[in-house]
Amino acid sequence: MPKVGAFYGVGVGPGDPDLITVKAVKILNQVDLVFTASSSTNEYSLARQIGLRYLKSGIPLQNLPFPMTEDDQALKTAWRKNASDIAEILRSGRSAAFLTLGDCLTYSTYAYLLPILTEIIPEAPITSVPGITSYQQAAARLNRPLVMTKESLSIISGGGDEGQFETLLDQSDNVVIMKMYRGRDKIVETLRQKGLASKTALCAQLDLPGEKIVEGLDQNLAEAATYFSLLLVTKRN
Ligand SMILES: C[S@@+](CC[C@H](N)C(=O)[O-])C[C@H]1O[C@@H](n2cnc3c(N)ncnc32)[C@H](O)[C@@H]1O
Repeated sequence: MPKVGAFYGVGVGPGDPDLITVKAVKILNQVDLVFTASSSTNEYSLARQIGLRYLKSGIPLQNLPFPMTEDDQALKTAWRKNASDIAEILRSGRSAAFLTLGDCLTYSTYAYLLPILTEIIPEAPITSVPGITSYQQAAARLNRPLVMTKESLSIISGGGDEGQFETLLDQSDNVVIMKMYRGRDKIVETLRQKGLASKTALCAQLDLPGEKIVEGLDQNLAEAATYFSLLLVTKRN
């Protein structure tokens, strides 16, 4: 029986290929196979595009299909099938990496694979390699601190519960709204109502074609927000 291969979840950063860690590059240059995810969004092909340049030549790539559905059963079936495909490679003694955009543990499909892999192949060593998140790069591009002194920071999804969104907005000193395309109109309206539009920055397509980084939330601008868009809100003066 070959020794089971190692598995790595690798965050490749949010877009700029220079924003990948040295550790990620070392791993990508060393593994036997690389998994990418495929779905109807372009997030995964972007992770692949960033990661590709750091792979040793000739390394096999395998796509794992993740359906874009809210059907719980269909999702669980797909995750389990994908986890078993990964487990099969690891059992053959080969090491593998799974590429994710930004950080691998921040709103990432990798987080769903982890518990299933641990269950079906507990002997496999699994290493999560953090990546620079999109909101870290957003703060960097704005030269705006994410949190200072005793301030708090909430990171939320635009697709979340509206009540929870308002509560967190009221209670936090700073808020990052990822996946804002999901609840865009309601989010913009709520930020306006709470007098936070001028304290909001839109960061769309960071380091990608069509990039927009604008402080102050204008309705027309919000309408131009793409899948790769997030908002940074601060109550700091
Ligand atoms: C499923 S989440 C993935 C987050 C990612 N794991 C991270 O650490 O940033 C996708 C969301 O991340 C944000 N995002 C990722 N890359 C981005 C970029 N280059 N520019 C702006 N927002 C980005 C957007 O809010 C997008 O809807």
